[in-house]
Amino acid sequence: MTPYLPDRLVSPEPGWTTTADVIVVGSGIAGLTAALRLRQRVDRVLLVTKTVLSEGSTRWAQGGIAAALDPADSPAEHLHDTLVAGVGICDVAAVEALVSEGPVRVRELVALGTEFDRGPDGQISLTREGGHHRDRIAHAGGDATGKEISRALIAALDAVIDDPGIELLEHALVVDLLRGGDTDPRVCGVTLHVIGEGEVDGVGAAYARAVVLATGGIGQVYSSTTNPSVATGDGVAAALRAGAVVTDLEFVQFHPTVLWLGEGSRGQQPLISEAVRGEGAVLVDAEGVRFMQGLHELADLAPRDVVARAIVDRMAQTGADHVFLDARHLGREFLERRFPSIVARCRELGFDPATELLPVAPAQHYASGGVRTDLRGRTSLDGLYAAGEVSCTGVHGANRLASNSLLEGLVFAHRLADDVSARLAAGELPPAAATGP
Ligand code: SIN
Repeated sequence: MTPYLPDRLVSPEPGWTTTADVIVVGSGIAGLTAALRLRQRVDRVLLVTKTVLSEGSTRWAQGGIAAALDPADSPAEHLHDTLVAGVGICDVAAVEALVSEGPVRVRELVALGTEFDRGPDGQISLTREGGHHRDRIAHAGGDATGKEISRALIAALDAVIDDPGIELLEHALVVDLLRGGDTDPRVCGVTLHVIGEGEVDGVGAAYARAVVLATGGIGQVYSSTTNPSVATGDGVAAALRAGAVVTDLEFVQFHPTVLWLGEGSRGQQPLISEAVRGEGAVLVDAEGVRFMQGLHELADLAPRDVVARAIVDRMAQTGADHVFLDARHLGREFLERRFPSIVARCRELGFDPATELLPVAPAQHYASGGVRTDLRGRTSLDGLYAAGEVSCTGVHGANRLASNSLLEGLVFAHRLADDVSARLAAGELPPAAATGP
């Protein structure tokens, strides 16, 4: 039986309208990058975000952003590690785009003002995470990489916010995508529910020549997740209702090391970055036995799906509801310097990684599937683009390689912004009259 899927949500008729050339929905790395780049190329961009600019998953990314920045590393090696982690179903062309354009895009982030951590030689410090055979993860503030990238992108947006080329609408939930009539069924806008004190309030309709979905993930669908409260899957749901092809939704990544706070703990849980294992922490069971050795050549730094499954197996074998992460040998001074946010959060919750084992268990972390796109960010619906976690470019296959998500949002937001602006300049995607979702 085909499940019933409504083509729109029940909502009041729009009480206000607005127009732009392009609407970007979402303000993580993908949405902000797309909006900033589009603003330089098209006349009017409307950036819409569900709460405030800095909410969303980007801000919570701890470990970093992967790119072959070390002269001893290469995009080919990054490609290899990504394909292995993706368990044979990555789109190779998409991964090639990711790894070959990644280093340039990360350097552009630096030029924009992102302050990555640097070593005594002034070079960006690179660390390792699961599935990587080289140190290629750039990080900021120790373990606050997403927060720093988000800060730099928002600062870049603030610098141009008075420019009529870009308009920002916060507290605006996308209700549905708008499509043209039978003769021109392109996506030509969105309906929005704005809850705020701005010029517009309530349900309205925003029309544009192209719509970019960058709404992030689905974590709050799960009882336990590393995702913030705004990650409710509304972008992928709106795309599905509009008839877009979505793919690989079953490939939901569980992060192996999420601080275990007890049976009843629900919603966003504290992440203990894979970079902590990258720096030498190890997993042990209640008896103190290291169980990753011998299971995979990379042991505690095997790809995430391997580690998460091994933890669940060990929990089942021992009847426990968690295992432990042992970082004590890294020392107080190193832990406080390298992972200041994680150490502070653990201590707030009554755990000291410098002196105690940390109880950890897997929790939902990342949706590898999503709205299917091609290499230009185009979805199956003309006029609709997607980037970041809401999208499925094919880069992640069945299991995302650690720290490839910020990079994917960055690289593919650039790609789609270039495609949208080229099409608009060529007179494609003329404004369409909406007849309804
Ligand atoms: C982490 O820091 O372990 C998370 C990084 C990621 O999900 O790529």
